[in-house]
Amino acid sequence: MDEDTPRTDGGTERVDGEPSEDVALDPWGSASVGDYADLFVEFGIEAFDDVADDVADPHYLMRRGVIFGHREYDAVAEAMANDEPFAALSGFMPTGDPHIGHKLVFDELIWHQEQGGDVFGLIADLEAHSARGMSWDEIDEHARSYLLSLLALGFDPEEGELYRQSDNRAVQDLGFELGSKANFSEFEAIYGFDGETNVSHMQSVVTQTADILYPQLVDEPKPTVIPVGPDQDPHVRLTRDLATRVRYFKVTEAFASFELDDAERTLVRAAYDALAGDGGDAGDGSDDRDDAETDVRCIDAAEWLEDYEVPAVDAEEVDLVDAKATALEKLRAGGKEPLRPRVRFFDRNATDEAFEALIEAVDGEKRVFEGHVDAFELTREAAESLAREVEIAHDGFGFRQPSSIYHRFMTGLTGGKMSSSIPASHISLLDDPEDGYDKVRSATTGGRDTAEEQRELGGEADECPVYELYAYLLAGDDDGLAAEVYSECVNGDRLCGGCKEQAAELMREFLEEHQEKRAEAEELLEDLDIDLDSDRRGTGGEH
Ligand code: TRP
Ligand code: SF4
Repeated sequence: MDEDTPRTDGGTERVDGEPSEDVALDPWGSASVGDYADLFVEFGIEAFDDVADDVADPHYLMRRGVIFGHREYDAVAEAMANDEPFAALSGFMPTGDPHIGHKLVFDELIWHQEQGGDVFGLIADLEAHSARGMSWDEIDEHARSYLLSLLALGFDPEEGELYRQSDNRAVQDLGFELGSKANFSEFEAIYGFDGETNVSHMQSVVTQTADILYPQLVDEPKPTVIPVGPDQDPHVRLTRDLATRVRYFKVTEAFASFELDDAERTLVRAAYDALAGDGGDAGDGSDDRDDAETDVRCIDAAEWLEDYEVPAVDAEEVDLVDAKATALEKLRAGGKEPLRPRVRFFDRNATDEAFEALIEAVDGEKRVFEGHVDAFELTREAAESLAREVEIAHDGFGFRQPSSIYHRFMTGLTGGKMSSSIPASHISLLDDPEDGYDKVRSATTGGRDTAEEQRELGGEADECPVYELYAYLLAGDDDGLAAEVYSECVNGDRLCGGCKEQAAELMREFLEEHQEKRAEAEELLEDLDIDLDSDRRGTGGEH
């Protein structure tokens, strides 16, 4: 990544490994994160930097550290690089007017569409009704507005799909199916639901997991990225789990009839490689399936492993020490059974026909057991695709786990968090351009008390909501402008008055232009097959 591009990563610097304060990710709570680094430690979200280099021409939100985290985005980046199918999907709860925070997600969707992905945008109307108590009339009005902004910013509805949850029968059916693999205790643990939680709210969670997997249902299983704020990560984690739970087969690697966990497998593989290498001409033997004849028995491997010193190098070390004892036990119990690398397919949810078909489809030597089949001549990857193929041919989903990317929340213009209940703290995409101008002019800054001090010490761009506006929105693709504002600010060459004036003018221009484009998009929206006049009956809403 370009070292010159200033990044908005105040906070992620801390790497001491201990969360500083309690962090919770609550999809319906207040969206603020004290320290983004905590999300890596606590929830296993990965730093976006780790995959950034795999993206050929990253979006400016990626370049500037606004997109700070991900789950398995490598799969999407790889598909993108190899011109293979991939998808992106995100959803919007129509609870108010779209604002500049939503624009981040709109832009992320549009960018993935430009990169050749199948892109989906949805209106989470069921969620808005059940979790936020919005009436159907309010929902219709806001839904229209979200869609207009998404279209105005460049979403191509011919190439992608826009839908509302309540109108998508396939999503409902998928939700029903996925719901059969989730239970209330889990919702309690993930979302803090309790006996008071309304049942439709729970149904809206199931619907969201269906949204997330829907791109893989309409066409074929493929890498799919869900661009969202980190508050949505609980949904992503649950969906990644459910995607696995509905799979027909589970593929693992094994060496003998018994099961090994990952750490044990590492050790047994080491034993096998050492011994198979000794006994034949197979070199290190690790990738070489021709050495199947080598006569290594479990008991030999146990003997080897006993004297093996687990290298005290990496963090896995502790795992491996514990695993050594259990692996030894298993190998000894295996006695004279030959040790032979193989892939194992477990029947997890398959129909009998599908399991039969899988057995039939395995090429080369295989051994069939109750509930699983071992294949001796397949690589792990070949086995994974075979399992998916058979599953799909037999009415299964064959889902891949969805990926995600997470963006930072923008700081409110009045300091603190951006909140729809404090109009001065955020800018709506529907704000009168003059109001937008005024809000920026009156924003809090990272400036010093006096001009003199500012010249001497420089401003604190990393703490400044106005700098954020440049980085997240106003500078657009122009890294030069973002870099200039940043360096002039921190070097004391820029004073807040002028800086805000420039930002305010850019904001006014942006809003003027955006609103013109929204007007133009009206026609496009009319032509789409989206019902924005729902005649649903229901309750009026809670306010
Ligand atoms: N829960 C999301 C929100 O509060 C909206 C949403 C519904 C969504 N389905 C989704 C987001 C699927 C991403 C993917 O805004
Ligand atoms: Fe913020 Fe600009 Fe002032 Fe720097 S000069 S603190 S970026 S308003």
